[in-house]
Amino acid sequence: MKILALNGSPRMKASSTYHILAPFLAGMKAAGAEVELIHIRRLNLEVCIGCYTCWARTPGVCIHDDSMADVLQKFNTADMVIFGTPLYHFSMSGIMKTFIDRLLPRFEPWLIPHPHVPGVTGHPERVQKPYKMFLVSPGGFPEFEHFDSLVATFKQMARMENWEYTGEILRPGAEPLSRRSLQNLFTGYYTLLRQAGEELIRDGRISDNLQLQLREDLFPGGKEVFYQLAEGYWTEQMDKFKVPQEQRHTVPLLAKDLDSTPMAPAGSNITNDTSKTGDRYYVSNEVIMQTMTAMYDTKAAPNLQATIQFQIIPPKIDFDPGEAMWYLEINGARCDLHQGKTAIPTLSITTPYEVWYDIGIGNVDALEAFTNGDYEATGSQKLLNDMLHLFPRPEPGSDDPLAAELDTLMMGMPTAFNPEAAKGTNAVIQFILSGKGGGLYFLNIAEGKCTVQRGAAKNPTMTIHCPAETWLAISTGKLDGHQAFMQEKYRVSGDMAILLKFNTMFDTHTN
Ligand SMILES: Cc1cc2nc3c(=O)[nH]c(=O)nc-3n(C[C@H](O)[C@H](O)[C@H](O)COP(=O)(O)O)c2cc1C
Repeated sequence: MKILALNGSPRMKASSTYHILAPFLAGMKAAGAEVELIHIRRLNLEVCIGCYTCWARTPGVCIHDDSMADVLQKFNTADMVIFGTPLYHFSMSGIMKTFIDRLLPRFEPWLIPHPHVPGVTGHPERVQKPYKMFLVSPGGFPEFEHFDSLVATFKQMARMENWEYTGEILRPGAEPLSRRSLQNLFTGYYTLLRQAGEELIRDGRISDNLQLQLREDLFPGGKEVFYQLAEGYWTEQMDKFKVPQEQRHTVPLLAKDLDSTPMAPAGSNITNDTSKTGDRYYVSNEVIMQTMTAMYDTKAAPNLQATIQFQIIPPKIDFDPGEAMWYLEINGARCDLHQGKTAIPTLSITTPYEVWYDIGIGNVDALEAFTNGDYEATGSQKLLNDMLHLFPRPEPGSDDPLAAELDTLMMGMPTAFNPEAAKGTNAVIQFILSGKGGGLYFLNIAEGKCTVQRGAAKNPTMTIHCPAETWLAISTGKLDGHQAFMQEKYRVSGDMAILLKFNTMFDTHTN
């Protein structure tokens, strides 16, 4: 006897449905049945769109090219189908209903007097075969009457489609069944389920006595104990997600302007693998994160409150970049960097070190890298998309004339350096030149010498945040540096005294 069992719980193997199905099907196997279990959620299953292609254009064949064609074959050749579904809103789960809707190609369009139900209309079946069906359903509430409409639905389906309804196993108060810690409580119930499976195959039905036993409470104490257990469980669950006092700044996960779709790029291929091992990679995670924080555009989202958690996977090269966990706390115009973990981040990013470094300096586009599966993100998709505006990054682009000009200018800064004016000044000046043609550069001024490097400095004394175009205009004298600063066309963080000396130390047009 061929049995096709369907698990319609989206929780698949973690479900109560599966905890009932598993011993029940084991009993059937022991009695000699050939059993196949399909977790519906694992299928690639489109919803029926009601196009009737399977009736008119390609009779018997659905318009969707997904898993259903294969499953239909199994369905049509099974001797019995076990429908396993959790009770959802007094009915079956959505995925079970989707599955059942997709059985439409089994029928022909014609309206005929039902061959077995007098006075009622039906459709001829394309595949005529005596089926048996059986229903398995767990529900959360502890009473049987909640299943009434579900059972009525399956019985109606059986009657109209001429299946033999061979019975049901309903399990009210079933939630504890799926809890690992309680499994010892249910060994007796599982034995009964196994027996039921054996009887169903051997005798074609489950005996009255066994059916009665299967309807008994899962544990003694009645509803009172059941309520206590449920309350204990949900209190524990809610405690788990409570935000500690010191992290109360954390923004509610369901902030109305943020969605909360879990996401991970398709075929995510996060690895530590990189062939790129240059000097530029030897900066700490802290510097990478500080640089990113510095890029925050204070005007981009005045009302945004969010936290972004980062976990940086260590680099492949033999270099310890330090603490892996960092989070950004965004509160309108402020963006603060914190070490460690925040309780409920709005967005979480797990990234290899090299990937985030490259994104940070503009070598790689953040969204493209996400689509490529170079890093993973969970939480708000909207916030992930918005990060491009919130943290305007350099976009160097080698064929961009602006980038080339700016790069020449920045790399040439030591030639404009005036050691006399810089006497007594030791400083690292970081430039974050954002947007099109931008890049990261830093000047190292020490003992009357000035060197320049592309990338992020370890501990900048001062950081200049400026759109690439604006910095080019200032450097070439088209824009007055002082005025531009007053007009907030660029920002400076760190030791402002360096800015005051900047003009004399370099023969540029920044005054
Ligand atoms: C969307 C949804 C709707 C539910 N509706 C009901 C219901 O109408 N009656 C009930 O007793 N339990 C209801 N429950 C509880 C589930 O039936 C119960 O938790 C069951 O054990 C889940 O089975 P599973 O682990 O196999 O998915 C509902 C649960 C969900 C998630």
